[in-house]
Amino acid sequence: MNRPLRKDKWLRYLFMEKDSRLKPHLPETHLLTMKSLKAMISKYGQVILKPVIGSRGFGVIQVTPLTKNRYQIHLENKKKTIRGFKRTYHKLKELTRSRRYMVQKRIQLARIGRRPFDIRVIVQRKSSFDPWRVTGTVAKVAGRGYIVTNNERSNGSLMTVKRALQKSSLRHLSLHYIRSKINRIALLSAESLTEHYPDHRIYGLDLGVNRKGQIWIIEANRSPILSHFRKLKDRRMYRRILQYKKGE
Ligand SMILES: Nc1ncnc2c1ncn2[C@@H]1O[C@H](COP(=O)(O)OP(=O)(O)O)[C@@H](O)[C@H]1O
Ligand SMILES: [Mg+2]
Repeated sequence: MNRPLRKDKWLRYLFMEKDSRLKPHLPETHLLTMKSLKAMISKYGQVILKPVIGSRGFGVIQVTPLTKNRYQIHLENKKKTIRGFKRTYHKLKELTRSRRYMVQKRIQLARIGRRPFDIRVIVQRKSSFDPWRVTGTVAKVAGRGYIVTNNERSNGSLMTVKRALQKSSLRHLSLHYIRSKINRIALLSAESLTEHYPDHRIYGLDLGVNRKGQIWIIEANRSPILSHFRKLKDRRMYRRILQYKKGE
């Protein structure tokens, strides 16, 4: 597989969507056109637009339909209201330039206060013959005013999954239950992608937990940054991830 295809999130979505075990956890996604945007907004209300080739929250836009044929566009920490669907689409085209984009159902991520968070799960194997293991999990809480939880872009914060769930609107749910669902879906994702990337040994999943405790796969990164784990005071996960990388 050549380099651009390895980075193609649309292709990865199509691979995962073919797997009936993963499909219920994947938010519906299409390539962005005027028609798909219109259909997705009427189906789901809020949607997320993201570049087919992108990372670290770059260019991720939330679109919200308001009353009286107005739409809100939320990019970085800025919101703008536009009147009319066509004008909104043209504004979005201006923002996305010539980059290919996808449109995805927006997940109502669990929050701490007003800040949404999602969970980065590192899944690794020591060799292509070894089983996949979850080697690290961390909650990424968005910084103030952002819809993306990417730590550096949004100036967000990091904490253990346990702490995030306890501080959030989900504190009434069983921690053990949510954690085991997160691990299961992360492992399934890696196993499923192995069919398409047979020698690959690491994935970084972004998993969203919605306000009912359901788990959604936001994306599967092939080259996850590990700085999240280096930044945690407890370095045990970071050390384990590095060991797995070396194949030890
Ligand atoms: N469908 C979605 N619903 C809610 N939030 C989303 C959705 N897609 C992306 N986000 C938010 O935007 C962030 C960045 O999107 P992501 O798909 O992970 O792309 P990137 O490669 O830029 O990290 C996610 O971590 C999440 O906080
Ligand atoms: Mg991401």
